Amino acid sequence: MSKHPLDRILQSQGFGTRKYCRELIMGGEVNVAGAIATDSHAGIETDGLEFSVFGEPHRYREHVYIALNKPADCECSRKPSHHPGILSLLPEQFARRDVQPVGRLDHDTTGLLLMSDDGAFIHAQSSPKRHISKVYVATTHDTVTPVLVAQLLGGVKLHDEPAPLAAVTCRMLDTRQLEIVLEQGKYHQVKRMLAAAGNHCTALRRTEIGGLKLDTLGLAEGEWCCLDEGQRALLVSR
Ligand code: URA
Repeated sequence: MSKHPLDRILQSQGFGTRKYCRELIMGGEVNVAGAIATDSHAGIETDGLEFSVFGEPHRYREHVYIALNKPADCECSRKPSHHPGILSLLPEQFARRDVQPVGRLDHDTTGLLLMSDDGAFIHAQSSPKRHISKVYVATTHDTVTPVLVAQLLGGVKLHDEPAPLAAVTCRMLDTRQLEIVLEQGKYHQVKRMLAAAGNHCTALRRTEIGGLKLDTLGLAEGEWCCLDEGQRALLVSR
């Protein structure tokens, strides 16, 4: 059980400054348990709290864990330079909560991207020690061959890496398509591994992280959802 004043709760959920949240309440824009809330200071239980702001329903979340089906031509940076940033795809309150991507996908890479405002979660998901697998589908310029697959499985040398990097698994999906599973997340890793093996990646999509498959989330490109505990538990297993 954890009770907090409503203005503070709204602020924690990214609706704006405490003063602005108080104004929202005084303006009758906030509804709690089916009634317009008028008291900013009364303690409200946050466990399971459902409320609405401007008629839009929300659920209290101590932290948010988001899965985004990232479209192409969209940058993971908080200060995007050439394309819109991923935060522009989410409701404004998530940016105010300081939601960050867990690692990055290139601007032209599509697929599963996790985002959160929980620093411990971001750190754990990004840690190489956890060996969390990431599944990519890469489309290639040249035909894929068993030799290419063997090279990626055996390890390829990238110029700024001390040791060769290898795919955990790699299989041909089509004449110009490979599924590559990695446990590291080095800069441009899939594209650089393919280039080092003598091919060229023309399109890249991340389809799975740990045991969480993008397909099961039913998200069209550009859509996002909040992950529940069960879905989060899948992230560490495969
Ligand atoms: N590897 C890449 O080359 N790019 C990505 O966006 C992700 C993995």
